[in-house]
Amino acid sequence: MNSLCGDPPSECPAWAKLAAHAEGWREARLAELFAADPRRSAQFVARAPGLELDYSRQRIGALGLRLLEQLAAERGFADWRRALFAGEPVNATEGRAARHTALRARDAAPAEVKQALVRMRELAADLAGIRRIVHLGTGGSDLGPHLLMDALGDAARLEVRFAANIDPLDLQRALQGAEPESTLVVAVSKTFGTQETLANARAAKQWLGGRGRLYAVTVNESAARAFGAAEVLPMWDWVGGRFSLWSAVGFSALAALGWQAFDELLAGANDMDRHFCEAPLEQNVPVLLALIGVWNVNFLGAATHCVLPYAHALRLLPAYLQQLEMESNGKRVDREGRDVAYATAPVLWGAEGTVSQHSFHQLLHQGTQVVPADFIVAGVSTELDANAEAQSRALAFGTGSSPGLPAHRRLPGNRPSSTLRLEQLDARNLGRLLAAYEHKVFTQGVIWNVNSFDQWGVELGKQLADGILQKRS
Ligand code: F6P
Repeated sequence: MNSLCGDPPSECPAWAKLAAHAEGWREARLAELFAADPRRSAQFVARAPGLELDYSRQRIGALGLRLLEQLAAERGFADWRRALFAGEPVNATEGRAARHTALRARDAAPAEVKQALVRMRELAADLAGIRRIVHLGTGGSDLGPHLLMDALGDAARLEVRFAANIDPLDLQRALQGAEPESTLVVAVSKTFGTQETLANARAAKQWLGGRGRLYAVTVNESAARAFGAAEVLPMWDWVGGRFSLWSAVGFSALAALGWQAFDELLAGANDMDRHFCEAPLEQNVPVLLALIGVWNVNFLGAATHCVLPYAHALRLLPAYLQQLEMESNGKRVDREGRDVAYATAPVLWGAEGTVSQHSFHQLLHQGTQVVPADFIVAGVSTELDANAEAQSRALAFGTGSSPGLPAHRRLPGNRPSSTLRLEQLDARNLGRLLAAYEHKVFTQGVIWNVNSFDQWGVELGKQLADGILQKRS
């Protein structure tokens, strides 16, 4: 797959134009932009099924957006997107496709995906006597289902507890109050070789003592069978861990929330896949998230990005997005193995609003670093909504010209943010939201010319830890 302008992206014609354009924007004030263009708040909005993105408080104008779209085109974005959905090996360092979209392709899903969904549904309907699921897994084998249960679990018919850490306290807590006879342990590991998950699975198996049930979700069926799993649900090489919520990795959540909720989640992600493929770039929510991110990082110099869900149910979203964005695009060499001379993924961080307001928002408003933020709001006209709007406004416009206000009380404003507004928080819209961020990540990977689907940077630590452990045992 070749981009059209030749690599690296910083040599694309649009990059140089953006760099020059950004010079003129360094002094631009959001307050003045809104004063000069009363239509700004209506114009800088894009809609996708179930959600809308308001990016009017980003420090960008129509020309900057056109140049960013040009950059995406010069990087061969349309061709890369086609290749992603066609199942071509876009993950070149591992010679694999990245077919997470096939997991939610509904009628068009591959036969093996459909079979797995049928099996998941059967198993979920056959949990008589089970009162708790203990889900073991880490990274992509934990964060998605954990978020899903935390967001939608109030109506769950079963309790699901998670253990991700090798610290035995995590499993101990997950098992607290449970009886082996009424417990289903689900060990989720794509490789079935992750130290944390295997340690927890061994301890949980011992605790079960042959009572209760032990299932596994993995690519490595033989290892899971040898371990003693009574049922092994599949994963595939062509789905990365952080993109795997839509597979049997989500089984614990499906079992607890019911088939309908899980099916809605898949349908929502599929809605977003279609939007990503069909909407013109200037109305394409994932593409806009990506382009604005590139603008902030590469042209306005932002080093971090803050995610602020104004919904307690989405409090785990920042952790989920940390893996999705930083494990995907936290890369220092490009697809050809050359050092990149430009910034790639920013540090992503965040927490639920309003709680975060009483913690780190001081830095967002008056710190020396400008931190672009995504506000995520669900529903309308709540106190949460009012607070998110207040924070976004304070970031954008600050205290304004308030003569006589002492310097320490002044908020400079001009700090960029976007607001992603979900019509309501339900399984379908959660699927849409998460898929939007997946496609943001992919689009940025195309622009930065990095492979978003490998994660070689985590390997050395694993090997060193294994070596250290062996020496000590
Ligand atoms: O250490 C990082 C990582 O490899 C992630 O990419 C992955 O989601 C996680 O570990 C868990 O891996 P597995 O599902 O193979 O246990």
